[in-house]
Amino acid sequence: MLAERKLGQTGLTVTQLGYGSMGLRGPKTWGVRVVEEEAADRFLNLILDAGINFIDTSPDYGICEERIGRYLSNRRDEFILATKCGCVYTQHEDHLEINHHWDRQVIRGNLETSLRRLRRDHIELHQFHGGAIETLQKNGLIELLEEFRQSGLVRYIGVSSKLPDLRGLINSKLFDTYQVPYSCLSPEHDDLITEAANSGAGIIIRGGIAQGGPEATIQRPALNDVWDAASLEELLDGSMTKAQLILRFTLSHPHCDTTIVGTCSESHLQENLEAASQGALPEELCSAIRKRVAAVLQ
Ligand SMILES: NC(=O)c1ccc[n+]([C@@H]2O[C@H](COP(=O)([O-])OP(=O)(O)OC[C@H]3O[C@@H](n4cnc5c(N)ncnc54)[C@H](OP(=O)(O)O)[C@@H]3O)[C@@H](O)[C@H]2O)c1
Repeated sequence: MLAERKLGQTGLTVTQLGYGSMGLRGPKTWGVRVVEEEAADRFLNLILDAGINFIDTSPDYGICEERIGRYLSNRRDEFILATKCGCVYTQHEDHLEINHHWDRQVIRGNLETSLRRLRRDHIELHQFHGGAIETLQKNGLIELLEEFRQSGLVRYIGVSSKLPDLRGLINSKLFDTYQVPYSCLSPEHDDLITEAANSGAGIIIRGGIAQGGPEATIQRPALNDVWDAASLEELLDGSMTKAQLILRFTLSHPHCDTTIVGTCSESHLQENLEAASQGALPEELCSAIRKRVAAVLQ
């Protein structure tokens, strides 16, 4: 049984291990890995079979929303769906170009498209895909999402962001949830997560497995350099993998309501489920990781 948390004051209960579906974006988008149709169907159903009840997506993740609609619409009551808005995307012959526009027409169009693709009559959590608070307010976009909420098209309103915009968004206290990047290898939003949670908002962590860290199929040198420089390997005692240590550190954050780990690998999913079932790391281990990483990043 996966641990569950209240998502801030939304009234939603989410599994602390969530799922980030960006990897199911399909061909001609970006990156080198493409998950085929049959595998996407199997994988999405596996996520729900495993008991994960929170899935994050976005209109600019290629065919991801369509796949969630196609393969999970008969199970829509089993999970909470979060998507995004402010996305302008153009399919070129070989790649998907992505931009963000803070404009009423774009936001309205995104919602209509998401509802159609996802085969739903409402979205549980609708998130701005970035944006500064001044721009969102000046363009009347928060009111627009409130209109959607009043008409029952969305239930809760959130934002996915990072510094520098994140601070003003938190200070506004206008959002039910904040989606924020965080891991032991990239901990710079630690205090802001606490600030946002103290305002009563729900916290969704992305990047919570540090893109797989040193065990990633697609390596991220900047993150691996932190792992190496902090000699985190020395803290492993054989009871967990590197990825599990990273994930359990994220799950140990007192305000991690859910972390939307992305994976398209069944064995990685099993590894992540095992880590989630073991839960938070002992505080001494978290503290040792924090100290070593802080010394490297200072
Ligand atoms: N601006 C935004 O709003 C924004 C930006 C980025 C992401 N997101 C959301 O956040 C989600 C997660 O973000 P993310 O993909 O950047 O971060 P992440 O979840 O930390 O990393 C995902 C990567 O980690 C690998 N991985 C997962 N479990 C692993 C394991 N046990 N061992 C080794 N590698 C493992 C996956 O590869 P395998 O498939 O090989 O397992 C995948 O490439 C996305 O899917 C999306 O929903 C939002």
